[in-house]
Order: sequence, then C-alpha cells, then structure tokens
Amino acid sequence: MRSATPADDRHGGEGGRLRAEGLTLGYDDSVVARDLGVDVPDGSFTVIIGPNACGKSTLLKALARMLKPSAGAVYLDGKAITHYRSREVARRLGLLPQSSLAPGGITVGDLVARGRYPHQKLLRQWSSQDEAVVVEAMRRTGVEDLSPRLVDELSGGQRQRVWLAMVLAQQTPILLLDEPTTFLDIAHQIEVMELCADLNADEGHTLVAVLHDLNQACRYATNLVVLAPGGRIAAQGDPGEIVTAELIADVFGLRCRIVADPETGTPMVVPAARRRGKSEDDGAVAVHEHAVL
Ligand SMILES: Nc1ncnc2c1ncn2[C@@H]1O[C@H](COP(=O)(O)OP(=O)(O)O)[C@@H](O)[C@H]1O
Ligand SMILES: [Mg+2]
Repeated sequence: MRSATPADDRHGGEGGRLRAEGLTLGYDDSVVARDLGVDVPDGSFTVIIGPNACGKSTLLKALARMLKPSAGAVYLDGKAITHYRSREVARRLGLLPQSSLAPGGITVGDLVARGRYPHQKLLRQWSSQDEAVVVEAMRRTGVEDLSPRLVDELSGGQRQRVWLAMVLAQQTPILLLDEPTTFLDIAHQIEVMELCADLNADEGHTLVAVLHDLNQACRYATNLVVLAPGGRIAAQGDPGEIVTAELIADVFGLRCRIVADPETGTPMVVPAARRRGKSEDDGAVAVHEHAVL
C-alpha cells in the first residue's frame, strides 16, 4: 500500500482521486455509454481496455472535462470537476488525446514548452524553472535531440513521445493517456510503459491510460477497467483477480486461455489457435524434426 500523501486531505473522503458516477456519454443524438461508474484510486495506475469504438476515448475525454456528460458527474479530488476553473483542472490533470494535431510549423521544443502554460501567470515571464522542467520532460521521453525539429516532420513514434513530453511538462499529479504506445515499436512501447510505471510508483502520479495490448495492460495496471461494446463496464479491479477467459470472450469475442506471464506472474492472454497444426506439446519441436528429416 502507498503511504498517505498530503493530497489525501483533499479527497472529501469518498472514492478515488478521480471518479465518475452515473455517466451518460455521447455525441449529438448518439449515446455511447449509459450509467458508467469508474473509480480511479489515488496513486493507481488505472488502465482502460476494450474493443474498438466501445467508448474508451469518450470516457477519457469526460474524465478530463473535454466532454460534457448528458447525465451523471465526474469528481476530481472530492469536488465536481465542473466546479474548477479550466486552469485549475489543467494544473491537476493532463490529457494526452488519442490523435493530437500540432499547429503547423511548430518545433518540438516549442510544443513541449506549451505544457507549461497552465503554470504561467499573466505577467510572469518564462522562468529557468520552466526551462528545466521542459528539458527534463524531453530527456525522460528521449526526444531532447529532436528539440529544434519541426513536429510535422517526425515519425509517428517520435511525435507520440513529443506529445508525452508535453503532458509531462505540465507536471500534473494526474495523467490521462489515450493509447500512449500507438505507433511505437515494441522496445519504445516498453520504454513508455516503464516510464509510466516509474511516474506512478516512484513519483506518486495517478495514471489513467487506454491501452490495446492486453498483456501490457495486465502487467502494468494496478486497477484495470474493462469496457465492453455499448459502453458497459464489464469488470474493474486488480488484473489478477478479474481477467478470465470468460471475460475476454464476453468483451472481445475472442477465445483464449489465460496463462501466467513468465516474467511477472500477471495474466497473459493467449488467443486460441484456429489451426492446431502446432499443438501445445509437440508443436515447434515436431515441425523442426520433420524439417530435418
Ligand atoms: N466527435 C465525435 N462525434 C460523433 N461520434 C463520435 C465522436 N467521437 C467518437 N464518436 C463515436 O463514439 C463511439 C465511441 O468512440 P471512442 O470513444 O472514440 O471509442 P474507442 O476509443 O473505444 O475506440 C464510436 O462509435 C465513435 O464513432
Ligand atoms: Mg480511442
């Protein structure tokens, strides 16, 4: 268990740091989710998983007050999120949206520096502390060498890490990340996940991330939120306690077995094979022997 931090005083006692109750979410006439209840415990690494178009990004937007629910409410540190001024929300919570478009012609350094906006006062100039925070955010995401480059000219993976640096430069206690590892190769995916785990475990950030990789989700989440088609919460809690083959079949329509991750012991989803040519016991070896003969 994490020890109490001064931030605990602000919760109003009830539920997590960020909490949604009875949310109905949608766009114009279409309803994406009804009566959603989500709890993001303080200090948790909460991961949201679910099939395409089930409402993960919509939920994240509502948690960040980028989308107004048609019913229900989001609570931030014990108060309705609508109660705060925008700048105050931006100081507590940073959002990395799923697809972010940088203003044309902006450099990496300038984009990351924009993460400092919520901290600037009307008459206060850019300070050496702002500069230090920006440099550190770029270092941690491995983009410091890209600083003078134009964001438009980067690869998808580089750009993703630049956006992450911008959100880090915001220095918020809560980070909401929508698919932070999309476009990244496997090594960079793990690097970003490890960075998130460090921010969470060592620096006490509360994280909410949407991920597609179920095995990474189970490895890193301390709290897993499983969203099913139609915006229904199918399960929520410790991955080791909630992830079963039945749950994955229900939510993703995928037959699978769950094994223990050999590195961490957390649940690993192994999709059922359609063709049984290489069975679990004699598979690879048998094929190899045939090949040799
Ligand atoms: N800006 C929008 N306007 C109208 N419909 C949207 C908008 N954004 C998303 N949707 C719809 O809402 C549903 C949920 O989308 P989204 O939350 O992006 O899903 P996910 O992130 O789980 O893939 C989808 O059917 C999508 O088409
Ligand atoms: Mg999405």
